[in-house]
Amino acid sequence: MHLSALPSQKPRPPRPHVKLKPVWRIKSVLSKTSLERLTSTRLHPAKGLASQRKLGFACAMPRLAFSQRTAFEAQPNPWALALQKARRKGRLYTALIESNPTKAGLSPHTRLPPSTGYTPHAQGLASARKALSKALGHPTLYPRLCLTSGTSEALGLAFKLLGDMGDEIVAGMPGYPLVQTLATFEGLHCIPFPLRLEGEAFRWDIPLLEKQLSPRTKAVLATHPQAPTGCCLLREEVLALEALCAKHGLALIIDEVFALPQHSLAGHPWKCLTFLLGGLSKGLGLPQHKLAWTWVLGPKALAHKALQRWLWVADAYLCLATPVQKALPTWLPMAKAFEQRVETRCKNNHACLAKLRPQGAAWSLFAREAGWTAVLRIPISPKEEPLTLQLLEAGVALWPGYFFEFPVPGFVVASLLAPEAAFEEAARHMVQVFEALWGQTT
Ligand SMILES: Cc1ncc(COP(=O)(O)O)c(C=O)c1O
Repeated sequence: MHLSALPSQKPRPPRPHVKLKPVWRIKSVLSKTSLERLTSTRLHPAKGLASQRKLGFACAMPRLAFSQRTAFEAQPNPWALALQKARRKGRLYTALIESNPTKAGLSPHTRLPPSTGYTPHAQGLASARKALSKALGHPTLYPRLCLTSGTSEALGLAFKLLGDMGDEIVAGMPGYPLVQTLATFEGLHCIPFPLRLEGEAFRWDIPLLEKQLSPRTKAVLATHPQAPTGCCLLREEVLALEALCAKHGLALIIDEVFALPQHSLAGHPWKCLTFLLGGLSKGLGLPQHKLAWTWVLGPKALAHKALQRWLWVADAYLCLATPVQKALPTWLPMAKAFEQRVETRCKNNHACLAKLRPQGAAWSLFAREAGWTAVLRIPISPKEEPLTLQLLEAGVALWPGYFFEFPVPGFVVASLLAPEAAFEEAARHMVQVFEALWGQTT
């Protein structure tokens, strides 16, 4: 998962029924690489001109003020610091936070064609888009398919064409936390919308969502399946989100990076402007090749306008490399086998966790529908952060749920990608720590 060090756990006010304050400042130290990558240096504290001179900085230049959009706390959060420390100490089980398919031995082997010149296209090469839309089961929709160098780039593009400074995007949580950062980069407020826990699934409460819309809301962002819970949107949720967005003139953005082609919503006759996002990093286990796609769908005239603007913006960047687009049609046939490998790995590791859980344990494992992660419900004491720090101290790394903005406390998240043997070793260790903490309830 492309996340990095996130903010430390702070007591939150109760969320439902409260209009949430926009998150302006990036509180977290997010980067796309991985949860544990950190900025180890502190930013220079703001210095006056006199002290800058003393320090030998440029003399005649007045103090430079950086943008608020890029302000962040350079100090890593306590979990990230503890992870660094535990790594230095030596024996640390990291299998439960292995989120990179290339390191988990799951990615297919690929070759790039020899460089054959530069053929840029703001939407992506037609040959690549045709092959991709065919492989995704919608061969005629390739004119609505846009290629980018990643889902993050696609989110940035969608945000650019939907909102002006200070406008709002409402994003369902738990979800992919980088969304807040990406919205902030575009000058937008990301309003986290807490999904309601029903059994083991987090669901959209549409009447509550409607109450939280403001005149500045431009889009609703959902994930399908959700990260990290793996819950798929229900048909009635899709229809209700669509109706709400159509009624209020909002765009619907659905991050489908973890969806199998058969679960994609691309075939739906969308009544609102809809962006559906997927990519090679999860679809084929090839994050290194930096290629993602977005279906721009909805009422014809509206989708056409959106596409025109998308191309206008994308043409200014042209981030996507030509060789990867040329190679794409030859890689797509490997997708099925990759999906099977990942599905088998995730199922086996999830079953392993279920088997290791002692009967009557104080913690529980949520059922898995899709995705690459397992969600564990834990007692609320100790809190997620102290608990995951304690686990690191004991030699096992696990993500605290608040990294993903669970609307209620008491969750930890494990990646299911690591090879089975390494996963089991780490999971056994985790269970031992849990047992020492909470013992058995029955
Ligand atoms: C839910 C979700 N969406 C998007 C992304 C980013 O994907 P990409 O590599 O295509 O930018 C990630 C990365 O982990 C993710 O977990």
